[in-house]
Amino acid sequence: MEDMFRLVDCEEMFSKRCIWVNGPVIVGAGPSGLATAACLKEQGVPFMVLERAECIASLWQKRTYDRLKLHLPKHFCQLPNFPFPQHFPEYPSKNQFIDYLQSYARHFDINPRFNQCVQSARYDEISGLWRVKTVATCGSVKNEFEYICRWLVVATGENAECVMPEIEGLGEFKGDVIHACEYKCGERFKGKKVLVVGCGNSGMELSLDLSNHNASPSIVVRSSVHVLPREVFGKSTFELATLMLQWLPLWVVDKILLVLAWLVLGNIGKFGLKRPSEGPLLWKNTKGKTPVLDIGTLEKIRSGDIKVVPAIKRFSDGCVELVNGEKQDVDAVVLATGYRSNVPSWLQEGEFFSENGFPNGWKGKVGVYAVGFTRRGLSGASFDAIKIAGDIGQLWKQDTKQKKHRTIACHRRCISQF
Ligand SMILES: Cc1cc2nc3c(=O)[nH]c(=O)nc-3n(C[C@H](O)[C@H](O)[C@H](O)COP(=O)(O)OP(=O)(O)OC[C@H]3O[C@@H](n4cnc5c(N)ncnc54)[C@H](O)[C@@H]3O)c2cc1C
Ligand SMILES: NC(=O)c1ccc[n+]([C@@H]2O[C@H](COP(=O)([O-])OP(=O)(O)OC[C@H]3O[C@@H](n4cnc5c(N)ncnc54)[C@H](OP(=O)(O)O)[C@@H]3O)[C@@H](O)[C@H]2O)c1
Repeated sequence: MEDMFRLVDCEEMFSKRCIWVNGPVIVGAGPSGLATAACLKEQGVPFMVLERAECIASLWQKRTYDRLKLHLPKHFCQLPNFPFPQHFPEYPSKNQFIDYLQSYARHFDINPRFNQCVQSARYDEISGLWRVKTVATCGSVKNEFEYICRWLVVATGENAECVMPEIEGLGEFKGDVIHACEYKCGERFKGKKVLVVGCGNSGMELSLDLSNHNASPSIVVRSSVHVLPREVFGKSTFELATLMLQWLPLWVVDKILLVLAWLVLGNIGKFGLKRPSEGPLLWKNTKGKTPVLDIGTLEKIRSGDIKVVPAIKRFSDGCVELVNGEKQDVDAVVLATGYRSNVPSWLQEGEFFSENGFPNGWKGKVGVYAVGFTRRGLSGASFDAIKIAGDIGQLWKQDTKQKKHRTIACHRRCISQF
């Protein structure tokens, strides 16, 4: 503890831009960061949320398309201690979800510090504290801050940055090239031949949207993909799988899911959609790939409105050359090639997070935590948030009991939210 006072006392600590945070710093104000903040409130622990955007849930507000709906039933997607409004449909729209998240932040009085992009976070062994550096952009002015705290909660998401593939000739392609995160609506592509690269949930849904707006989409399927119906006999496939997993081993549930998918969707292989050799749940667990939950794309593929094509060889002269030698004219390209974590770019820590930006569990050593990285979507994030807040809450209570016997000279630039 003495070391901490040494650090607190040092000149740098009390420079204008150095801020001591009581309680944890949470990086990211998406659903995971908000859920953790709300659970910490319940535990009576103050915190500070740092967000690079100027709003909460920036992925949902800025980087998603108009037709997006949650693809799991609402009770799997609500955050801790605050249910969705009764009138919400089973699969809330993106706007309803954003409204819910805004009410959530208001209800728990969570006020992130916006425009604070975390550039680095480093654990200081001597003081036992985290040093979190941000750059805050306000117009053309850039300000640097350093936040000092005992606990760090990483809530920057599995989908923090877009994956941009390197494809020969794409740089010289004259038509529109956008990533799925920039796509809003198919209207602007009306009458155009659009190549959608990638057949995850984004690629499949954007192809459907393009077709619904009278564009001619082709979807690139370079390897294999699991497509499942969103519902089987009126019941959510995800919910069925969750129920079955309580009684049956995963490989049996996988087999049942494949039979059900075959009954509802038929043989998808004949449309060029080859299934992986592992079942859908094993595929998700081992490769981290999410099965596609079909909401109508397959019907359009069956009718020929959406064409399935194999991997791309190169782009040249306004057309794309495929690995099977076929050439197609293309007016625009939508890269639905996925997302990645950005944690390795800023977290200076070599044990808890691996090179791909995913952690080993929800709790690391030296007071670092991860929320929303279990590839289990919103429900996984809620579970993490509850565990993290419980853990920090306990430590906080121990700490505050001890501190009652001490006076801490920490009155300058000491902020956190409560
Ligand atoms: C198109 C799309 C649809 C999806 N639909 C569903 C669905 O229906 N159901 C489901 O369960 N999941 C869905 N997901 C997965 C979804 O990403 C998560 O469920 C949810 O958004 C995760 O919340 P999060 O807070 O962990 O991450 P995010 O929502 O990504 O929030 C992370 C926040 O951290 C901020 N941030 C990142 N880096 C920094 C930094 N260096 N400094 C400061 N702030 C930073 C970001 O700006 C962002 O606001 C979908 C994903 C996509 C892309
Ligand atoms: N309604 C919804 O709720 C909804 C909608 C959209 C997205 N999401 C979620 O958002 C997350 C991200 O989904 P996503 O679909 O954007 O990403 P994704 O699941 O990671 O899929 C990326 C796709 O791009 C392909 N790809 C990557 N590089 C390629 C290249 N160079 N050439 C050809 N294909 C390439 C991948 O093929 P390979 O498999 O061969 O690598 C894969 O098919 C997922 O969790 C998803 O469930 C949810």
